[in-house]
Amino acid sequence: MQDHTILVNFSKFPDQGMKNIIKINKVINPFNKTIYVEGDKSLSIRWVLLSSLSKKTSVAYNLLISDDVKNAIECIKKLGAKVKINKKKCEITGVGFNYKIKKNLVLNAGNSGTLGRLILGLLINYENDFKLIGDKSLSKRDFSRVSTPLKKFGASFSSSKTLPLIMKGTKNPKSIKYFEKKGSAQVKTTIMLAALKSNGITKIKAAKSRSHSELLFKYLKVPLIMKEYKKYDIIHIKGINRIKPLNYKIPGDISSCSFFIVLTILSKNSKLLIKNININPSRIGIIHILKKMGALISIKNRKKYKGEIIGDILVRSSKNLKAIKCPTKYNSSAIDEFLVIFLVAAKSKGISFFKDLAELNQKESPRLKLGSKILNSMGIKTSLSQNSIRIYGKPDHVVPKNVLVHKFLKDHRVFMMSTIAALTFKSEGNWIIKDLDSVKTSFPSFLKRIKYLGAKLN
Ligand code: S3P
Repeated sequence: MQDHTILVNFSKFPDQGMKNIIKINKVINPFNKTIYVEGDKSLSIRWVLLSSLSKKTSVAYNLLISDDVKNAIECIKKLGAKVKINKKKCEITGVGFNYKIKKNLVLNAGNSGTLGRLILGLLINYENDFKLIGDKSLSKRDFSRVSTPLKKFGASFSSSKTLPLIMKGTKNPKSIKYFEKKGSAQVKTTIMLAALKSNGITKIKAAKSRSHSELLFKYLKVPLIMKEYKKYDIIHIKGINRIKPLNYKIPGDISSCSFFIVLTILSKNSKLLIKNININPSRIGIIHILKKMGALISIKNRKKYKGEIIGDILVRSSKNLKAIKCPTKYNSSAIDEFLVIFLVAAKSKGISFFKDLAELNQKESPRLKLGSKILNSMGIKTSLSQNSIRIYGKPDHVVPKNVLVHKFLKDHRVFMMSTIAALTFKSEGNWIIKDLDSVKTSFPSFLKRIKYLGAKLN
């Protein structure tokens, strides 16, 4: 990995005046509000890809219109799908299981690991070479985790570890048996999509990870058997050759919501209701972890929607937070939320410990390392290993100096975590956080919502 330093003194930083930077020098004032966040990214990308498989028109409301999802839309258009977007309504008419593709296909997954990996599974039955490219961050990430099972289905790769890569599918994908050990929903879903187009029954044993694909497959009546065990799931999928359209109202994203949960917990005399959030049990590790630390969070208006569970999340300022020895059973269901959870640990009494988190360094940036660096730059002590972190919490901590956050591979979640830190930890200096545009990948209206709650940003 390259250098991703978090510098502490920004006085000589050249881009200071440019718009892609935010400057914060004051914690947020108390607030009492209700907000929505944008549509769930995992569901939005899955909806786009699955809709491309039906010859009939699928309709989604509240699709997340972020760069990752726009890239998914651009990819399926290149596969022959027709897409219409009108404000919050999106219609996709696909071409069935055999795409209409012009030769020399190049697909750009941008920043998205989910899109980059899933699209390879989707194209298992495409017999020509195609190229997959991505941005600087995605080009550093591991693709052998999906090329390995896809080779078993019959695909071949020119280079199969990192992007850019060239893949060639096969006319008759074979069903396979595979043990997915990392607890990666991206890998599991890539295999599930390839299984859909294969002859026979694919048998997957998968360490626990988010379950959206299984729920969507069941809703689409794909022949699927699933057995849940404590640490892993068994999924059997029988290949088919057509699929029905998928109409969907996409609920709010718990990962986007998590920044506001932590903002409220760590702010004084505040209360926030975040409405219509997907609270699928495989995504709410953050709620379990923060409640164990003493956070005041409750869920209202639970309802079922096409297998998912949706609810409103009520959060209040929380005093007397205590450190946690985080049970690893929550790792997969909180995987995208650890950066903000680390902020709560930094404000809690005692030493928190998070382990078996090597996967965090495999994200858009090496988040375990960067999370630790940001805490250190704020004056919070940590001890870090390849896969664990100890955070020495200080409930009344005042950040003693300026903090500059940059060189983080434009990771949206690092940007948003830093913003929440700046708005909740008193400081004797200023915060300057670079690459505001990183939020366009997952949560374009992040800053608008922060301002709505009253934050003063420059
Ligand atoms: C995702 C799965 C997770 C998560 C990512 C989205 C998905 O990655 O970190 O943001 O939509 O399947 P892994 O499956 O690699 O853990």
